[in-house]
Amino acid sequence: MSDDAASAGDADPIPLFEIDWDRGEVRNVVDSITRGSYWANGPYVDEFERALEASLGVDHAVVCNSGTTALVCALEACDVGPGDEVIVPSFTFISTANAVVSVGATPVFADVEPERYGLDPESVESHVSDDTAAIVPVHYAGRACRIHDLARIADRHDLALVEDAAEAQGARADGAYVGTVGDAGMLSFCQNKVVASGEGGAVVTDDDGLAERVRLLRSHGRVSGDYFDSTGGGEYTTLGSNYRMPDVVAAVGVAQLDRIEDLVARRRAVAGAYTERLSAVDGVTPPTDGAGGERHVYQLYTVRFEPWIDRDAVAAALSEREIASKVYFDPAHLSTYYREEHGCEPGTLPVTEDLSERVLSLPMHPNLSEAEIDRVVTALDAAIAEQR
Ligand SMILES: Cc1ncc(COP(=O)(O)O)c(C=O)c1O
Repeated sequence: MSDDAASAGDADPIPLFEIDWDRGEVRNVVDSITRGSYWANGPYVDEFERALEASLGVDHAVVCNSGTTALVCALEACDVGPGDEVIVPSFTFISTANAVVSVGATPVFADVEPERYGLDPESVESHVSDDTAAIVPVHYAGRACRIHDLARIADRHDLALVEDAAEAQGARADGAYVGTVGDAGMLSFCQNKVVASGEGGAVVTDDDGLAERVRLLRSHGRVSGDYFDSTGGGEYTTLGSNYRMPDVVAAVGVAQLDRIEDLVARRRAVAGAYTERLSAVDGVTPPTDGAGGERHVYQLYTVRFEPWIDRDAVAAALSEREIASKVYFDPAHLSTYYREEHGCEPGTLPVTEDLSERVLSLPMHPNLSEAEIDRVVTALDAAIAEQR
């Protein structure tokens, strides 16, 4: 499509993401509903957990009602609590840090490195203190962070390593699936993720005790089976809450997970087409794909602009052409809450603060067409050309 046609407003809007669903999701949901029982903890919850374990090669997957609550459970199960510090990136969704606050611990923001946008091991090392209990690295946008370097730091200082793999289900780091390197990994199935169930999350781990604690925390610390199945009151051994995933949500997750390889392959094809087209656009750095045993799953497709480009003006120009884009992420440590309640200040995380001024995530989902990719890149190129 020509630039004129795109700007004339005669083209369909291109959203940031679309959900890829199939008959499998519909069939499972109908099955779950029409069973007429076990809408809370039901057979699809078990099936989803076993399928997650098989797909990642882990001993335990415990699903929760969001990635955030899964992270809360994982941290608590690692005995992280009041008086502890947890090293987190600021270049992430705020949930990563909020989960730390939710368990009564203090998030300590470390900087990211400029290639994968994951925690910089050197910055992490410099933030380790006597109170540090854990590191929570994020695999940004679907690419593994330097997780093996971070695992070595965690080992050396005897820290828990809980991976926030919300954006990177199915991604690999040196052959290992992300989420499976640390003591525990968190996945999110929120609607824009690689595997989507609307809302939802999971803790994955090989540690039997940790998995058991997460199961307790997710359901009021109850040790005596399914509440709805028994006529007695049950036994509660620890403080927990209701972080359970409903059966109908797990039903969607099962069908999505069944198609994960296809979903990832199509995301990677879209990313490949973007990257090829963008190589001709001056001032734009596409995401790097990784090599060897790595696999990027492109939950997001995030480009970085040269400093001379006004990123917000580019985003506005795309918006005028009905093309959505978004900044993932504004630094968490500079949000009002972390500034006012935790005393965080600008100027403390130079790479994060610089990146957050220069990145922009473009529309990305498994069904983005060649024509849509063409429209996005053409509009981006025109917006940048106007600034030269
Ligand atoms: C890096 C990261 N961490 C945590 C979350 C929180 O997951 P959820 O929305 O499932 O609670 C998200 C996604 O929303 C995320 O992108």
